[in-house]
Order: sequence, then C-alpha cells, then structure tokens
Amino acid sequence: MESYRIEGGAPLSGAVRVDGAKNAALPACIASLLTDERVVLHRVPQLRDVSTILYTLGALGGRVVRHADHVSISACGSLSEEADAYSVRQMRASFLVLGPLVARLGQAVVPLPGGCAIGRRPIDLHLDGLKALGARVAEKEGAVVVTAERLRGARIELSYPSVGATEQILMAASLAKGETVIENGAVEPEVEDLARLLRKMGAEIEVVDRTYRVAGASRLRGAEHELIPDRMEAGTLLLAGAVTGGSVTVAGCRSDHLAPLLGLLESSGAGLTIDGEMVTVRGPVRPLPVDVVTAPHPGFPTDLHPPLAAYLSLAAGASSLVEAVFEGRFAYTDALCAMGARITRTGAALTIGGVESLNGRAVAATDIRGGAAMVLAGLAADGYTTVTQLEHIERGYARLEEKLVSLGARIERDDE
Ligand code: EPZ
Repeated sequence: MESYRIEGGAPLSGAVRVDGAKNAALPACIASLLTDERVVLHRVPQLRDVSTILYTLGALGGRVVRHADHVSISACGSLSEEADAYSVRQMRASFLVLGPLVARLGQAVVPLPGGCAIGRRPIDLHLDGLKALGARVAEKEGAVVVTAERLRGARIELSYPSVGATEQILMAASLAKGETVIENGAVEPEVEDLARLLRKMGAEIEVVDRTYRVAGASRLRGAEHELIPDRMEAGTLLLAGAVTGGSVTVAGCRSDHLAPLLGLLESSGAGLTIDGEMVTVRGPVRPLPVDVVTAPHPGFPTDLHPPLAAYLSLAAGASSLVEAVFEGRFAYTDALCAMGARITRTGAALTIGGVESLNGRAVAATDIRGGAAMVLAGLAADGYTTVTQLEHIERGYARLEEKLVSLGARIERDDE
C-alpha cells in the first residue's frame, strides 16, 4: 500500500514548474479521433488519467506513440466504434470519445460512465446535444449506442454550462454538416484550448461570451499543439505555499487562468507577485477568513475547493464555502476534521471555523482534489501525517511529492 509520510511544520520556499493541464490533455487526445492524420500534443502530463485515455485510444485502433514530453496519435486505419468498458469505468472523461466516434464512423458504442466520489454526474446534456445534431441515441446493456449517417448542424442551448457536454458537442459539430450554435457553453480555459486545437485541425469555431459558432468540415486534418498549463496543479502548489506560511513561486503558469484563486489569496492576507508566467505567493502568519461559492469559469473552480478548505481551516475566523457544482464533493472533510479542523456542513454550504493548528493523522485520499487537501493539511500540521490511497491523487498530480520536496517539504513516499 503506497502512502505519503509527511512531517508538518516546514514553511515551503522556492520555485516549481507546473505541467500541462490534465483537463486539457484528455479532450485534446480524444480529438485525434476526428482525423486520420497525426495529432501531436506537447506538454502532456505524466498522469494516470492520461495513460488511461491513451490506452482507450489504442484499444479503439489509434496508433499512439508517447515520448518524454509529447504524444503523437494517429487514428488512421480501421477504427473500432466500441469503447473499452474498463477504461470508461476507470475515468469518466473517456465518455468524450462518443461524439468524435459517431461523427467519424456514423456509429459509437460507449459504456455509461456512472457516478463518482464527487457526485451523480449525469450525461443528459451530452446525449441531448448529440440528438440535436441528428443522432439516434439508445441504451443497450449498460452502454449508449449512438448512430447517424452524418451529423448536421443545430442550435443547442445548454441548461448548464457543462465542461464535458460543451467539449463533446464541439468535437461532434466540427465534422457535422452546416453550422452549430452552442449557447450557454462552458468557457473554462481547457475548453478554449480544445477549440484552439480543433481550429488547427480545420474546424471554424468562434466564441462570444458563452456562445460558440461551429462551421463543420467534411474532413479534419492533423495538427501540432502545446497544451495550456495546469491551473489546478498551480493553484494547489500556491495553496501549499500559503498554508505553510512559506514563499512559493509557480513557474510556467497563466495568472489570468488563476484569477479567482489569486483574488481570494489576497483577501486572505497572502502576498502575491505576478511576473509573466511566474506567480509568487507569500503565506500570511494566519489567513483571514473569506467566503466563496464555487461556479463555472470565470467563477471559483470547484477543483480548488478542497485545497482551499485545507488552507482556510487555519484561518483567524470562520469562512463559508458553498459547493455549487458537485453535490458530493465533501468526503475529504472527515479527514480534515480528524486532523482537528472545525468544519460543519449544511447542505452544500460548509462553515470552516478557523483553528490555530492541525494535528498529523493517518488519512486516506477519497478523490483527486480531496487527496490534495489532505496533503496540504499534513504539510501544515503538527507531527506526522500519512496519506494512503495515492492512486486518487496520482490521477491528477504528476510527481507531487518530488515537487513538494523541491520546495523544502518533509514528505516521502512509502511503497510498502
Ligand atoms: C470537468 O468535469 C472536469 N473534468 C472536472 O475536473 C471539473 O470539476 C468539472 O469539469 C467542472 O469544472 C475534466 O475536464 C476531465 P461538468 P465534467 O460537465 O465535464 C452537471 C478534476 O478533479 N451535468 O461541467 O464532468 C454535473 O452533474 C475533475 O480534475 C449535468 O447535469 O463537469 C455537474 O453538477 C473532477 N448533465 C455540473 O454539470 C450533464 O450532461 C458540472 O459538470 C453534464 C453535467
């Protein structure tokens, strides 16, 4: 059983470079299914989830070559229309192969992804979007079967700016006949990065506010693309610096993508310096409490909710944090409370009553971001913390302990 063993109390200092964004890498890899030419992606993070999607694409018949810092994918030759059940169950984002497969092959069979630790996570907006593009959708033995001679452009208004549904429809519409308009679409930086790649592949995509206009092409070409930096990794590392009262510089990140977090850090009394792609945080002696509600971009990202809660658990007063995106993103709070945090919950609202200190404990990661929150709490706590179930954390953070050690953290990995 692998675990992190953390001795808390050391203020972090120094600089660390972030990787490319996981949530940009996954849809970008999948977009390669839209063409029989080679797609080359740079700054692809070495993550468990990336391995899963590359496995899924290989199982569909794609030729995948992974290099140290880039990946090349060619979905040429005969492609299967049926996605591998194991990988879709491993990782929900695999469900995004549905749109590209039906757009390219006229048929796709993809297992239903089901829920996960952070919520029910329905897929109704994905399926409604494909239906609007003229596809027939049926369910069979725990999978969705989607067929269409050729998808045709349509006007689609999303009832919620879902990241996944917007990406699914953008990819399908790129090979549809005619124009598609998506209203109330997601504008997360990762979605915009996908649109940039699709444009390089030959799709015409305009975005104004939350409205996308896609002029579909009969064929798309290969492309080369560098992924955006991972704002969730950058945010987590900045919070690691802040929670330990240290001074940390994150290099190679986009401060505009981090604006919601940077504003909160300043309100909590942290010092900030932004210099191009470098953001430096100087943690306060004790944070001031803040109130936050998670929301679609440009609101405060739900993925930084748990790491932020770890930071606010040491504030000089009570903060409120409302989770308005995923109804089940609270499992990590038990571990933080076991470490001495005072967190109470009413529905989707947390009250984080600040405490002076946390105590090291043995805790188990529940999901990617919940696990990161436990590591941050351990870095700030008195004594030793062990964090198990690292497979969750490693789905979203590459070489986390190495990066933290480079900042002076006393963390080691125990591979018993
Ligand atoms: C993406 O998930 C990210 N994953 C998530 O990051 C992130 O938390 C989320 O967007 C929100 O920012 C990837 O990009 C791979 P959504 P996604 O569709 O696409 C509801 C991480 O830790 N909804 O925007 O699944 C849904 O239930 C992960 O890296 C419907 O109701 O998120 C949720 O409440 C976790 N019907 C809300 O929308 C649908 O058809 C947001 O979901 C689709 C979604």
